[in-house]
Amino acid sequence: MSHIPVLLHESIEGLAIKKGGIYVDCTTNRAGHSIEIAKLLGKKGKLICIDLDKNALSEAKKKLSEVKNAPEVHFIHSNFRHIQDILNKLKIERVDGILADLGISSEELDASGRGFSFRTNEKLTMTFDSNPSEDETTAYDILNSWSESTIADILYGFADETYSRRIARAIINRRVIKPIETTHELVDTIANAVPASYRHRKTHFATKTFQALRMAVNDELGSINDLVSSLPNILKEGGRACIITFHSTEDRTVKQGLRNLEDVMKIVNKKAIIPTDEEIEMNPRARSAQLRIAEKIN
Ligand SMILES: C[S@@+](CC[C@H](N)C(=O)[O-])C[C@H]1O[C@@H](n2cnc3c(N)ncnc32)[C@H](O)[C@@H]1O
Repeated sequence: MSHIPVLLHESIEGLAIKKGGIYVDCTTNRAGHSIEIAKLLGKKGKLICIDLDKNALSEAKKKLSEVKNAPEVHFIHSNFRHIQDILNKLKIERVDGILADLGISSEELDASGRGFSFRTNEKLTMTFDSNPSEDETTAYDILNSWSESTIADILYGFADETYSRRIARAIINRRVIKPIETTHELVDTIANAVPASYRHRKTHFATKTFQALRMAVNDELGSINDLVSSLPNILKEGGRACIITFHSTEDRTVKQGLRNLEDVMKIVNKKAIIPTDEEIEMNPRARSAQLRIAEKIN
C-alpha cells in the first residue's frame, strides 16, 4: 500500500511556512509532506530533505522534480540526529522550520525486505537505513546474542509489553536450538510464549515486540532526543518544529524533550493535535498519530 501522509494539513499549517524560507523535512520518505512544503516555499526557498532510506529519497527526488517553481532542494541520506552537522556542511546557520514524521512508512512496513512487519516473512534486519553497513546492529543480532534481561527490558521499556519476560525467555530457549532468522520464526516464538487470551486480542500479539526491536535497532529514542535538543541551535527566532509521533513512548520522549527547553521554546499547542475521524477512516494508520508544535522564542 502506498504511504498516505499523516496530519498533512495540520502539520503544514503548524509550520506556518514563510515563502522563500529554509525548511528541513527530517523524515522525507517519498515526499508526502515535502511536496506541500516545496509548493509553499517557491523558487527562492530552500528545502533540506533527510532520510535514512536511500530508496525512498530517490523516489522523493523524482516527485519533487515535478513541482513547479520548486525551491532549491538538498537530499541528504543520513540520520536526522546529525541535523546540526548537516546544516553546517550546507553552510546554513539557522532554519525557519523543521518537520519530523517519525517511524516508518507504509512501503517500509509492507515490503522493504527488512523485516518490519510480522505479516510478511522476511529476514530480521529492521534498520531504517536501506544500505546498512556490516557493523550496524540488526534485529537478528539482538535476538540471537543479547542477554535475556536486556531483551526483556527493551520489550517492556520501549513498548510496554506485558509479557516481556516470558517472550525474552522463549527467545533464549529457541535460539539455543537454532538462531531466529525470520519474522515468522519470531512470531511463532512469541505465540508460544504468551497466553491464548493475548493471542486472540484485536491488536496482534507480536505488535509490541516488533515495535520494541525496531526502536532498539535504530536507537529511535536517542535520535529523537538528539533532534529535539538541537532545536534551539538550529531554529531562527520564531522558527517552528512540528513533530508527529505514533505511540506513547515516542510521544513521551518528544513532550519531555520540549519541556526541557521551555526557556527557549514555546509549546504552540498545549494538547497534541490528533487526526480527525475522517482522516482515520480514510487512513487507519493515522489513528495513533499525535502532532506537537513548538516555536523558538529567544
Ligand atoms: C512515517 S515516514 C515519513 C513519511 C513522509 N512524511 C510522507 O508523508 O511521505 C518516516 C520516514 O523517516 C525515516 N526515518 C526514521 N527515523 C529516521 C532517522 N532517525 N533519521 C532519518 N530518517 C529517519 C524512515 O526511513 C521513513 O522514511
